Order: sequence, then C-alpha cells, then structure tokens
Amino acid sequence: MTNKSPFKLPLNVIVLAAGKGTRMKSPLPKVAHPVAGQPMIQRIVNQAKSIGAHEVRVVVGYGEELVRQLVEPLGGICEKQHQQNGTADAVKAADPSTLSGMVLIVNGDHPLITSDDLVELVKKFEVGNYDVAVVSSKLKNPKSYGRIVRSGGKLHSIVEAKDASHEALKINEVNTGIYVARAEVLSQLLPRIQNHNQQQEYYLTDIIELCKDDGGKVGAIEASPRVCFGVNSQRELAKATQILYKRKALQLLDEGVMVVDPNHTYIEESVQVGEACVIYPGVMIRGACDIGNYCVVESNCVMSNVTLESGVVVKAMSHLEGCVVREKAELGPYARIRPDSDVGPEARIGNFVELKKAKMGKGAKAGHLTYLGDAEIGQNVNIGCGTITCNYAADRKKYKTIIGDDAFVGSDTQFIAPITIGRGAIIGSGSTITKDVPDKALAIARGRQVIRENYKPKSPKQTDKARNSSEMEK
Ligand code: UD1
Ligand code: CA
Repeated sequence: MTNKSPFKLPLNVIVLAAGKGTRMKSPLPKVAHPVAGQPMIQRIVNQAKSIGAHEVRVVVGYGEELVRQLVEPLGGICEKQHQQNGTADAVKAADPSTLSGMVLIVNGDHPLITSDDLVELVKKFEVGNYDVAVVSSKLKNPKSYGRIVRSGGKLHSIVEAKDASHEALKINEVNTGIYVARAEVLSQLLPRIQNHNQQQEYYLTDIIELCKDDGGKVGAIEASPRVCFGVNSQRELAKATQILYKRKALQLLDEGVMVVDPNHTYIEESVQVGEACVIYPGVMIRGACDIGNYCVVESNCVMSNVTLESGVVVKAMSHLEGCVVREKAELGPYARIRPDSDVGPEARIGNFVELKKAKMGKGAKAGHLTYLGDAEIGQNVNIGCGTITCNYAADRKKYKTIIGDDAFVGSDTQFIAPITIGRGAIIGSGSTITKDVPDKALAIARGRQVIRENYKPKSPKQTDKARNSSEMEK
C-alpha cells in the first residue's frame, strides 16, 4: 500500500475498457481516443494512481494490444475479457478475489471525472461503512442510463433502461457506472449474478439486490453530472475535449494568467503557466510545457514539450517543439523552433526562421528567412536574412556549424558544414563558406562583379545570324 493514500483501507481500481465503442465509427478502441491530448484510458489510470490506488487493473478486449501499450507504462495491469458478456463478467475478468480492501470500479470512457471526484466518492464509501455502493447522479434527461430505484428513500435496485417499466423510466437519478465495493463482498457476489435480462448479459448492477439479500449494506453516493458523462460518439468526444480545455483555461485565469478568450484556448492539463502571462486566442500548448512568468504567446502558436523562461514573447503563428527559450527572448511571427534547440536570453528569432538542434547565444539575432540546423551560434551574433547552414551532406550524415561570439553574417550566406567561424568574424553577403574562418577575419566567397563600360548588347538580328551560322558549321 502506498503511504500517500488518503484512505483507511487499501484501495484498488478496476477500469472497464473492453468495449469497441461501435458508435465512435473509428477503428481505434474507444478508450484510446484522446480527450484534450490524452487517451481517455490514460487519464483514468493516472488519476487512479494519483489517489494512491494500490493496483489498477484494466479490463481489455477490443484493441487489446493498443490499450496495453497505453496502460502498462503507467503501471496499469491489463486483464483480458475474452467475450463481452456484460459489466459483471468484465469485473470478473479482473479477478477481484486476489484483491483486498476496497475496489473502485469505473468505466474507461468517462473523461470529465477528476481525481478529487474519485477521492470524495471513496471517502463517502468509507464513512457510509457500505459493503457495496453505486455512484448516482441526477440528470434532466436520463436517456438510456440505468435508473436508481429507491424504496422509502433507500436504495432498492438498479434497472437498466432496456428492462425498465414505464414508471421506472421516469426516474431521473441514474447509475453513473461507478461503484465502490469491499473486495471480499465483490468476489463472493459476482459468481451469483445471472444473465436473465433483455440483453442476456451479466449486469454488474444486479450486485445491489444480491448484497441486500445477504444482509449487506448498500447505498447510492450522489455525484455531479460530470461524473456521469460518458463518451460514445465523436460528438461527445469533441464536447469532452472542449470542456477540458475550457476547464484548464479557467483554472489559469484563477491563477493570474490573462487568457484572452477561454473558449478558444487549447492548453493541456500537463502545462504549467506562470503569473502575469498573456495567452491570446487560438493558442495550443501540449505535453510537458513549462512557461515562466510574464510571457506573451500571441494567436495561433502551437507549442509542445517546451520550456519558456520568464519574459519570453512568442509572436503569432509560431511553432515550437521540444526546445528551451531563455529569458526575454523574442520569437516570430512565423518562427519554427524544432527539437533540441536552445534560444539564449534576449535572442531574437524573426519570421520564417527555422531552428533545429541549434543553440543561439545571448542576444544573438536571426531576423528573417533562415535555416539553422545542427548549429552553435555564439553571443550577439547577427545572422543575415536568407542564411542557411548546409548540415546534410551527400553521405546522408549531419554536420555541425559553429559560429563564434560577435560574428556578423551577411545576408544570403550558406555554411557548408562541418565548419567553424571564429569570434568577431565577418562574412560578406552572398557567400558560400566552405573553409573555417579565423577570429576577427573577413571572409567573402562569391563571384566577382564584372563591369563593362558603355556596353552595347548585340541586336536580335545579329544574334540570330550568329546562331544560324554556327549551326551550319556543325
Ligand atoms: C452501464 C450500466 C448502466 C449505467 C451505465 C453508465 C450495466 C448493466 N449497466 O450501461 O446502469 O447507467 O453503464 O454509463 O452495467 N464493458 C466491458 N465488458 C463488457 C461490457 C462492458 O468491458 O462485457 C465495459 C465497456 O467497455 C464500458 C463499460 O464497461 O467501458 C460500460 O459498458 P456499456 O455497455 O457501455 O454499459 P451501458 O450499457 O452503458
Ligand atoms: Ca451495454
């Protein structure tokens, strides 16, 4: 048992995820679909782990291999259900007889649940001293959810919509599909569940009546409707994604970030944003991003796995991936910073500049239309417009360009790597630099300009004559 658990008894989690999700109309297993950048199944496994679950068992079936790949690196244990014979059969596949303490059963496709929701439910289960509890929710439109039937205010049973009477269908308290049970009670009762119902499936919901018949204590724990929100279609997937992005945007507003339009900002949960940052509409920030204080990110920038130190400005339409941008650097508009790049403090990267595995020193500048790949650019270097580091050779290997501090590179320069340019060197515009340049030297490598004074171009007639005669000579 991990000691971070907030519960008295050990907690285990079983996630039901064997279904295909036919209504998604997608070859992916339903739980592998991402909501706000993260596959649904990974969200729930991470949450279960984060609240101190001892074991997280995931019941897999359709798309088993893919689900395994998503779940196992997070510490989830996959249990195969060979045929989908219903929710009780699915729980049986997870073999709860080998668990002790409490078992929380959740569906893999309820992405709006939070870790706090789960903690609250399990705590209520402990306080209520239940043997089996179902988590319910009150909905305006209870649709096809199972209905919670009470008698004298107490939980009596759960009736599936397909099996429900006209009267029962009017009930608006529904089964969210989440349950908490004592492990030993669960494993005793599961084998007694029958499939005598409309779908001829083994319904986990029947466990309530069986438990009561045995004199056990059952109850319904009420939760907010978001707990109930399950994804069954692409529309619901998009809705869930929208809700999660908005939730993050509102959270950032509460933390002092200026999110200009929380309805059109796409920041994943994993992203950290410092105080007094400004995020303009249309920005997408993904993965492990860490943004310092006082940064500005203008519209339509996409960033993944990026660290921005404080005071960085990323102007509109820039794309950043796996890089570090140091204090007060300025990028864009239309900058592209690719993995393993490191943009130094107060450096400036302008429009249509691409960096790949490039390190820019403090105060270095590349203002326009430039490619710097496998490069180390020193402090205060000025890279002129249209500069290219030719890093990829005919042998299909990558070579490095090193440019010393304070060097000045004129426009339209190509560096044929591997090459080293000394500190304070000056490269004349239009040069193709093939040899190393020493410190403080001037290098020019371009065709010399030819001037012919009073030059008279030949008339078109003369040119034709000359061409004809030379052809006859052949
Ligand atoms: C179930 C509940 C219903 C509840 C609803 C909440 C039953 C009988 N009904 O209905 O009361 O209101 O959830 O969403 O439990 N699964 C398996 N193996 C199976 C069957 C299902 O792993 O053999 C998984 C599915 O992949 C899914 C979850 O269990 O993640 C729920 O199954 P689903 O068929 O969607 O249940 P509902 O009919 O919606
Ligand atoms: Ca079903």
